[in-house]
Amino acid sequence: MKTATRLLSATALLWLAVQPLQAAERWYSEQQVKKGADLFAQNCASCHGAKGEGTKNWKTPDDNGVYPPPPINGKGHAWHHDLALLRGTVKNGGKPVGGTMPAFGDRLSKEDIDAVIAYVQSLWPEEIYQRWASRGEPRADAPDQPQSLSAQLQPGKRAVTRLLEQRLGQPVPPAVETPVKGIYQTRLGANIGYLTEDGRYIFMGQLVDLKTGANLTETAKRAAVTDKLAEVAQKDKVIYPASGEEKAVLTVFTDTTCPYCRKLHKEVPELNKAGISVHYLPFPRGGAAGPGYTSLKQVWCAQDRRKAMSIAKQQMAGDLPDPDCAAAAMVDRGYRLGNEVGVTGTPALFKSNGQKIEGYVPYQQLIPMVLGNS
Ligand code: HEC
Repeated sequence: MKTATRLLSATALLWLAVQPLQAAERWYSEQQVKKGADLFAQNCASCHGAKGEGTKNWKTPDDNGVYPPPPINGKGHAWHHDLALLRGTVKNGGKPVGGTMPAFGDRLSKEDIDAVIAYVQSLWPEEIYQRWASRGEPRADAPDQPQSLSAQLQPGKRAVTRLLEQRLGQPVPPAVETPVKGIYQTRLGANIGYLTEDGRYIFMGQLVDLKTGANLTETAKRAAVTDKLAEVAQKDKVIYPASGEEKAVLTVFTDTTCPYCRKLHKEVPELNKAGISVHYLPFPRGGAAGPGYTSLKQVWCAQDRRKAMSIAKQQMAGDLPDPDCAAAAMVDRGYRLGNEVGVTGTPALFKSNGQKIEGYVPYQQLIPMVLGNS
């Protein structure tokens, strides 16, 4: 049917999701790069080359099926890995995933590993670094051992994912197995796609289990959304808690300037009374050029964000603070996150099970929708 168009729009979504609004700063210091350069020369250059250029035929395994050291200078795939995974690779080597790279966990300290990664990343062109950084918040305090380590590097899934990445020219999350043999599931923005084992064919659509009636695609989609939304800390939201016992949480991507966001805002007390906590995330329609971009930043910078939200939505008189503060970064993050979970307009509402409710719904109808199970 319209597979091509849908894939295209999924690609566009994904593209939006990986576009940073502002250039990300490098997470490391010059000192770390300097220290890392020495450590790299001593420990890594013998395999990956003096400047991380790797081996010429790194994509071709030798007769024993062993892959030669790949480039890690911004070519190749190392830049598709988040910081936690890069750390895990250096610490644990390639063995856990069937590779041959030695483990450095007993030779290099945590600080050494960070320094050597800092040096490796200093070799990446700015454009590659920005694309890497836009895939998530590069955090110096990311956990050491990502659960996805084996999932990301397991050879079969990796091959499937890589073909897709080559085709789209974009990093995609690792493919995972489905109950259907030879069919792998992948995510393009908020859309679920299915890949054949050889990575050659993809289809977008609904995978339904006729025995149980379960729509596996919808389940996967909701799980992806729930995971993404859970990454945001409470302190980064504007929360209107339920009065009395909390029966449900409703996450709302909002813009201060959108008429229906304002309409919904007036009804938040009704939702709270019904036991629904409202968690606001910022979503400037039109991104950094959008009308609400600055006023959302002002809200997130305010001491009393709830009051500021009402002022920005013109439901209260008062002044808004300067939009330049550390918390204002949440507005850019909210925009990226919204694009990733499939927000196309505001307000966009998500139930805690990841189900999306499109646009404004009057509270009398919204309350049973949020409290119901489907
Ligand atoms: C004995 C050779 C060897 C040494 C020494 C070595 N590596 Fe590797 N490295 C490899 C191979 C081979 C791979 C591909 C995966 C595998 O087979 O384990 C790899 C993979 C990687 C990757 C992931 C690349 C990708 O595309 O996914 C990174 C990052 C990396 N190495 C960094 C380092 C750093 C940093 C050091 C030094 C602390 C180092 N390596 C030392 C051989 C080596």
